[in-house]
Amino acid sequence: MKNPKPRDAKRFFKPDKRLGGALAVLALAIAGVSFHTLIQSAHAQTAATEPTVVQRDTLAGAALIKRGEYLARAGDCVACHTADKGRPFAGGLPISTPFGTIYTPNITSDPDTGIGHWSDADFLRAMHDGIGKSGERLYPAFPYAEYTKVTDSDVLAIRAYLNTLTPIHYTPPRNELSFPFNQRWLMVFWNMFNFNEGRFVPDPQQSAEWNRGAYLIGGLVHCEECHTPRNVMQGLKTSERFSGAELSGWHAFNITPDKTAGIGGWTDDELTNYLATGVANGVVHGRANAAGPMADVVQNSTQYMTPEDLRSMVVYLRSVPAKSGGDIHPRDSFGKPTDADVTAMRGTSISGVNGAQLFIANCATCHSWTGEGRGGSVPGAYPSLIHNSVVGALAANNLTMVMLHGVSRQTKDATAFMPAFANELSDEQIAAISNYVTKTFGNPQSTTSADRVAKLRSTPQ
Ligand code: HEC
Ligand code: HEC
Ligand code: HEC
Repeated sequence: MKNPKPRDAKRFFKPDKRLGGALAVLALAIAGVSFHTLIQSAHAQTAATEPTVVQRDTLAGAALIKRGEYLARAGDCVACHTADKGRPFAGGLPISTPFGTIYTPNITSDPDTGIGHWSDADFLRAMHDGIGKSGERLYPAFPYAEYTKVTDSDVLAIRAYLNTLTPIHYTPPRNELSFPFNQRWLMVFWNMFNFNEGRFVPDPQQSAEWNRGAYLIGGLVHCEECHTPRNVMQGLKTSERFSGAELSGWHAFNITPDKTAGIGGWTDDELTNYLATGVANGVVHGRANAAGPMADVVQNSTQYMTPEDLRSMVVYLRSVPAKSGGDIHPRDSFGKPTDADVTAMRGTSISGVNGAQLFIANCATCHSWTGEGRGGSVPGAYPSLIHNSVVGALAANNLTMVMLHGVSRQTKDATAFMPAFANELSDEQIAAISNYVTKTFGNPQSTTSADRVAKLRSTPQ
């Protein structure tokens, strides 16, 4: 079997030595104290009942399974629980953390290697409390801190859907975590500081639409796992919700309603289009395209959501506190088509490292030498670099990542594909193109160096 590509989960656990220290101290502290009670409570099991069998051929059964499929997509279970596309939901995806590697479990209904033997109560407990079948604490790389908000009926609909999938007999590799992180009971402490068990409580002061959006975003849809920065213990910094965070080399932008640093300047349609298709075309040019981890979110999850649910999430996002950043201008406000005379460069051989020449040679066929992009068969298929959020961002990370890894995003209506240049271009060349692109079409303050590119190149995806 081909070894699956490690998925870097720095978004769950950023390297932070302080965390190691904090946990080690806690480990020592606990040794003397209520160790016994904790272990006991961790092993308190729910009554083992057989899973409810849902009849696929009844109208109610079919509707339940369809709802479960929709919700499983909203929760993007497949993204983490699939290492090999031929074995969907069978787990085995390595999530690398500074403490070692966690492999996602098999959640197909295979009785021996999956969750076929789990009762509905076991499944509810995993999703709501982060506790596994034998009472063990699960690691928060599984977003139960958000899934705890999801109603029993939605969790059970997901279970009903999972039960209809082909059971796959496959045992993922064992976790490779060092002491003390291989001690699952330590999650008791993580939970104490970072986990509020409990279902979503609607706010009667707000509209039904707002409440639906809050339920989805706070629960299954877990946008915050990437867009909210983390504290020392890698819990979400609740005071800085949606203000942007780094993950495996990418920057998940500030998506608070701030007009400069966030997405306050976007229209509702731009936002819903972005989530449904991965493309937001602004009034002038560009605006944003979803690449990297966001392309996966659109492809696996948000493209399947109904227009009503997407709209409700936008309504909710508009209501979270605005957070400013270091930006002076919105990142999608930069640039105008260049009138640099590139014709003079035609036929000249590339000497040394020249950003303009490299741009013409590698990028201009699709994005045009003026930076305005090209239509192709689909309007905006080769996007404008002018008023593009990646080119106008304060840091050039995502621009580098897009050049290294390209773009690959499939939705119901379109396939977006930009080739990866990791094997074609050196760190120096990528840095030169990046600096040319930001200076000419984007935020001229956003510069990079070959060293920075090398660092991003070696970040596992
Ligand atoms: C961001 C990654 C991620 C997503 C998204 C995710 N999971 Fe998981 N899940 C994990 C990891 C990692 C574990 C294992 C945690 C551990 O070993 O402690 C896990 C564990 C589980 C378990 C416990 C299985 C066992 O054998 O102990 C269940 C059940 C589960 N997930 C269901 C789901 C469902 C249903 C969804 C979608 C609604 C989902 N997960 C989405 C990462 C994810
Ligand atoms: C797996 C991590 C991840 C998750 C989950 C995620 N995002 Fe993102 N998001 C990103 C990254 C990375 C980018 C930058 C993409 C790029 O450079 O093309 C991004 C970009 C965006 C942008 C574009 C901002 C701009 O100025 O260009 C919006 C809007 C957005 N995300 C909204 C959301 C919403 C809403 C959700 C929940 C439904 C969500 N994201 C979930 C990682 C994520
Ligand atoms: C074969 C055509 C092609 C070439 C060559 C190409 N691109 Fe792209 N580029 C695309 C497509 C297609 C997209 C994605 C459109 C979408 O997301 O809908 C894209 C997206 C982008 C984005 C936006 C990414 C985001 O996250 O918003 C940037 C920036 C970019 N390209 C820069 C470059 C640079 C710099 C080069 C040269 C090194 C280059 N491209 C070469 C086709 C191309």
